[in-house]
Amino acid sequence: MTQHIGVFVTGGIAAYKVPGIVRDLIKAGHEVRVAMTPSAAAFVTPTTLATVSKAQVLTDADAEQNPEHVAHVALAHWMDLAVVVPATANTLAKLAFGLADNVVTTTLLAFNGPKLLVPAMNDQMWQNPQTQQNIAHLKALGFRVLQPATGFLAEGYAAVGRMPEPSVIAAFIATYQPAAFLAGRTVLVTAGGTRERLDPVRYLTNDSSGKMGTALANVAAAAGARVTLITTATQPVLPDVTVVKVASAAQMTQAVLAAFAESDVAIMAAAVADYRPVSAADLKLKKTGTAGLSLELTQTQDILKTLGTTKTHQLVVGFAAETDHLLANAQQKLAAKHADLLVANRVGPGIGFNQDVNQVTLLAPSREPEAVPAASKVAVAAAILHRIEAAL
Ligand code: CTP
Repeated sequence: MTQHIGVFVTGGIAAYKVPGIVRDLIKAGHEVRVAMTPSAAAFVTPTTLATVSKAQVLTDADAEQNPEHVAHVALAHWMDLAVVVPATANTLAKLAFGLADNVVTTTLLAFNGPKLLVPAMNDQMWQNPQTQQNIAHLKALGFRVLQPATGFLAEGYAAVGRMPEPSVIAAFIATYQPAAFLAGRTVLVTAGGTRERLDPVRYLTNDSSGKMGTALANVAAAAGARVTLITTATQPVLPDVTVVKVASAAQMTQAVLAAFAESDVAIMAAAVADYRPVSAADLKLKKTGTAGLSLELTQTQDILKTLGTTKTHQLVVGFAAETDHLLANAQQKLAAKHADLLVANRVGPGIGFNQDVNQVTLLAPSREPEAVPAASKVAVAAAILHRIEAAL
């Protein structure tokens, strides 16, 4: 869905990355308008941002030159969502106190829609109790805050305060949820295709990118849940999500079983290998003299079925990836794996795996199938999580 996004740039070194973020929002189909503080203009030019956003950039200078046009109010009316990126300690302090002394703070005070903050600053400034108090206050006022990353700072050392990668900022914006409908819930999600080793350089896998499972984890976190994501994938994950990286079905099984008891919901979105090589060679396998080669495989443990048959209080959700007889096969999996909800997902060339759009049908015991209209994986994830919340 196209959104009108206001991007508010304040004066930190990370501002030099904002043109790329704006371009990515435009590529994702949104309309973007930018406003910036005078100190932001020292790091990135209004002309650059006007060019990438395809719109005039609002600065204090034009607000003074066009007094007949109340630009900050017009921008506040136009926006569906506001993102402050990077948000400096100074701007955070002003927003916490409702100050309005430049086009950024004035427009944000005139806007009562969703406000997302991407703080980036020196580690000492971030950890300062005054900044932390302002952050706590802003959260209580309904602002959403993306936790800064730990990494190399402009000061030349590694610490907390770095602006998260643009792909993580994009996920933060895309997964924004108006209500914390999963607050207090603990959600376990698996994602990606498992890799089953043949030898040190080869493995068996599938086309799953982990986009659907990662979208579920990010949206659940944005909806207030405590989330653990057990994944083989490298999709961008929100900092609030606890990530457990695994490769094989056996590692995924172990990680899921370790986290299951404490979960309220387990969503098995991973494409787990059904078979793995009986043994993995320590050294690279050599081509033999014969034209053919047979691999000896053995079945892996069915994680979903294990959860379905051992659950105590948890809501267990599975996926069914099918190329044919979608609903019949999915109904059969729902029953055989004792799942509480099953997401039937058609897969094949150009559909399902590794796409940004998905179309699914939700199945639950003794209920009519519920079709979710084709939408982005993030929107489909939100629909699935709302259905889960209703079932909890
Ligand atoms: N699954 C699992 N452990 C396995 C295999 C699958 O937990 N070893 C889970 C998947 O995460 C998914 C569901 O079972 O939630 C269905 O996966 P799918 O691949 O569609 O079905 P399979 O049971 O593997 O059956 P088939 O391959 O015959 O369609």
